[in-house]
Amino acid sequence: MTRLLWISWFVLTIAGATTLFIALPGDSTASSLSTVFLPGQTTHGHHQIEMKCAACHLPDGGVTDQSCIDCHGGELKLSRDTHPASKFHDPTKAPLLLKIDAQNCLSCHVEHEEELTHPMGVTVPEDYCYHCHEDVAKDRPSHAGLAFNSCANAGCHNYHDNRALYENFLRKHAGEANVLDEPRNPLRRVQQWLASAPASSRSPLTAEQSNAPAEHTTAELTAAWADSAHAAAAVNCSGCHNADKNSSAGDSWVAVPDHQSCAGCHDGQVDSFLVGRHGMRLAAGLSPMTPELARLPMHGDAAHRQLDCSACHDPHQPDMALAAFDACISCHDDSHSRSYADSSHHTLWQQELSGQGAPGSGVSCATCHMPRDEDGHVQHNQNDNLRPAEKMARTVCMNCHGLQFTLDALADPQLKDNCYSGPATMKVRSLDMVKDWFESRKRR
Ligand code: HEC
Ligand code: HEC
Ligand code: HEC
Ligand code: HEC
Ligand code: HEC
Ligand code: HEC
Ligand code: HEC
Ligand code: HEC
Ligand code: HEC
Ligand code: HEC
Repeated sequence: MTRLLWISWFVLTIAGATTLFIALPGDSTASSLSTVFLPGQTTHGHHQIEMKCAACHLPDGGVTDQSCIDCHGGELKLSRDTHPASKFHDPTKAPLLLKIDAQNCLSCHVEHEEELTHPMGVTVPEDYCYHCHEDVAKDRPSHAGLAFNSCANAGCHNYHDNRALYENFLRKHAGEANVLDEPRNPLRRVQQWLASAPASSRSPLTAEQSNAPAEHTTAELTAAWADSAHAAAAVNCSGCHNADKNSSAGDSWVAVPDHQSCAGCHDGQVDSFLVGRHGMRLAAGLSPMTPELARLPMHGDAAHRQLDCSACHDPHQPDMALAAFDACISCHDDSHSRSYADSSHHTLWQQELSGQGAPGSGVSCATCHMPRDEDGHVQHNQNDNLRPAEKMARTVCMNCHGLQFTLDALADPQLKDNCYSGPATMKVRSLDMVKDWFESRKRR
């Protein structure tokens, strides 16, 4: 069947539009034409790059795991995957693989099969854990009678990433307060830098020192730049506008620098931006993502805005408060995003900005979706901690909340919709179950 489809696709391609293959990547006029060849709707995670067939398909039409691993292998490794292919190399596991070939990504994730697809591109029925763990209640009496479609409910287990859910972790964080004593996020790099380097050790550039050729200079732009973190860090106009960093400012002036112009100094931000849903089209060599191409609800008047660094940062005067909230809601228009402004987190964020709250005590959209690491680097991949939701526990919530409170909140679908305004209405039982388990072992 697959073969047949590919052959007919190939023949149609040759016959109908010989240039289609060549035109597919990046050419938007070819896009509407080539969706005809998609056997069904592509998953939420990949719809942006669905026109780039070759990202996943080999020239003969087949798909191998290697394509998935090329893009996702690193992240699964970092997430300490609970079920990596290597776990099944041991011959004693062979009988399990007869039921479900867990060494192959395509056993559980396929594409263009809308009617089979659950969230996160999963295409196996939700009770599939049963195939390998039907005996679980033998060792774990607490699991007797649990439904087999409940194993992967929020707050219990995930198939891949259990970093916030494994037993010793749950045990270690049992009994923590809902809100910790000093609820704080790490500071941004620039904040750390300004706090550690005395003013006398810095040598900011002034407007007079800008090195753009006169025909590209306006007083307004120059004043904005002179007031920016770049001028403060002695980064001149040529730092971004010159393709040839060794020549003087006038030679090879690039009028509209793209994200690559930032990479020389901000490679971490550029790399992480490119692997999330804001930058993945650019990474695939396609035109930038725009709200018009989105499946999520977006503001109509933002339809044609392009997602690059300038979508959130005015390159001449980056404003971090603007980037962390105002920029986001200028595009996003779903109920979660709209509700944020009424949450107590937003109040904390306003207090931080006005100086009433300590640095790091506020919670903006970016606090949750673009968290800072200990060194103050800002994660620019909004999907890094997005799904499954417990990924956000360690990177964000636990800076300020206890684990029980965090898991309860993340498991509550209503709180997702109202952006965590109000307490959770449900309780994840895992921490209690782990406590009982360790106590019963002690007794034995
Ligand atoms: C993100 C990866 C990805 C992209 C991009 C992608 N596909 Fe697929 N496609 C898959 C996977 C995975 C399968 C399932 C393969 C399997 O089951 O062996 C598949 C299956 C197919 C099939 C076979 C369907 C069937 O019923 O067996 C066709 C035809 C197909 N894709 C066409 C396309 C075309 C045409 C494009 C580009 C316009 C495209 N795909 C882009 C991943 C992708
Ligand atoms: C060209 C790179 C690329 C290839 C090839 C690719 N993916 Fe992805 N995938 C992405 C990006 C980018 C995202 C969106 C960001 C994210 O969720 O991490 C994504 C998202 C996903 C998601 C999460 C969906 C969600 O709703 O959260 C799953 C699951 C996934 N990919 C599995 C696969 C599998 C299985 C394959 C092989 C058939 C594959 N990917 C091939 C880049 C790729
Ligand atoms: C036995 C089924 C199964 C197999 C095999 C499998 N996955 Fe998954 N995958 C899932 C399930 C279920 C989820 C939903 C989240 C969870 O439970 O971890 C998921 C989620 C994901 C995600 C998004 C969430 C995350 O934690 O990053 C990615 C990416 C992903 N899978 C990639 C892959 C790749 C690449 C392979 C092959 C190396 C693979 N998966 C093999 C079942 C499977
Ligand atoms: C194809 C078989 C297979 C499937 C399907 C499967 N598992 Fe597993 N799982 C294993 C194997 C094998 C181990 C390792 C056990 C061992 O080392 O003896 C394991 C280990 C685990 C562990 C212990 C993890 C640890 O810390 O070592 C948990 C929890 C778990 N699985 C839950 C699940 C859940 C939940 C699902 C469904 C979302 C699932 N498994 C689906 C085979 C499977
Ligand atoms: C941090 C990198 C960076 C620095 C430093 C920088 N620029 Fe730019 N500049 C850009 C980017 C990126 C664009 C494209 C803006 C966009 O995409 O909308 C741009 C656009 C421009 C434009 C196009 C006009 C417009 O519509 O905004 C002019 C003129 C310009 N810059 C002049 C300057 C001058 C003069 C300086 C120094 C005083 C300077 N730039 C410093 C990154 C920079
Ligand atoms: C020549 C090096 C250089 C280039 C090129 C460069 N930057 Fe920077 N940028 C810096 C330095 C140095 C800082 C301040 C200290 C730090 O964060 O490392 C900074 C800070 C920033 C900040 C933080 C501002 C704040 O107030 O916290 C943003 C945002 C930023 N840059 C965006 C960009 C963008 C977008 C581009 C590309 C259009 C770019 N930068 C190009 C060197 C550069
Ligand atoms: C979706 C909006 C968005 C996009 C797109 C975006 N940024 Fe950012 N960026 C932010 C936010 C928000 C912060 C600050 C978060 C905070 O305060 O913790 C930030 C912070 C930064 C910083 C300062 C971090 C530090 O170390 O002090 C740099 C540098 C930066 N971005 C560069 C870039 C570059 C380069 C690009 C393009 C590849 C880019 N950003 C694209 C929203 C964005
Ligand atoms: C220029 C418009 C624009 C801006 C500004 C913007 N976004 Fe997005 N965002 C998008 C688009 C478009 C998508 C992809 C939606 C889709 O594919 O359906 C997206 C995707 C996302 C996703 C992934 C959603 C998912 O389901 O996988 C998150 C999370 C997100 N944005 C958060 C933010 C945050 C936080 C900010 C501000 C720091 C921000 N965005 C700024 C347009 C924007
Ligand atoms: C307290 C942390 C937090 C704050 C603040 C927050 N979010 Fe989220 N957001 C989440 C979590 C957690 C999810 C995923 C929930 C899930 O899948 O269960 C999410 C999901 C999303 C999604 C995906 C929506 C979907 O339907 O799949 C987008 C887009 C998004 N957030 C944007 C934003 C924007 C824009 C803001 C600010 C106006 C914001 N978020 C504020 C935690 C937060
Ligand atoms: C910088 C610290 C900080 C971070 C990070 C943070 N919170 Fe909060 N959150 C607070 C504080 C402080 C309160 C109490 C506010 C109050 O009572 O006025 C709160 C309140 C809440 C509430 C109750 C809201 C109400 O109105 O009753 C929920 C639910 C919540 N947070 C969930 C989360 C989740 C989920 C995350 C991670 C995705 C998270 N928070 C991240 C500091 C934080």
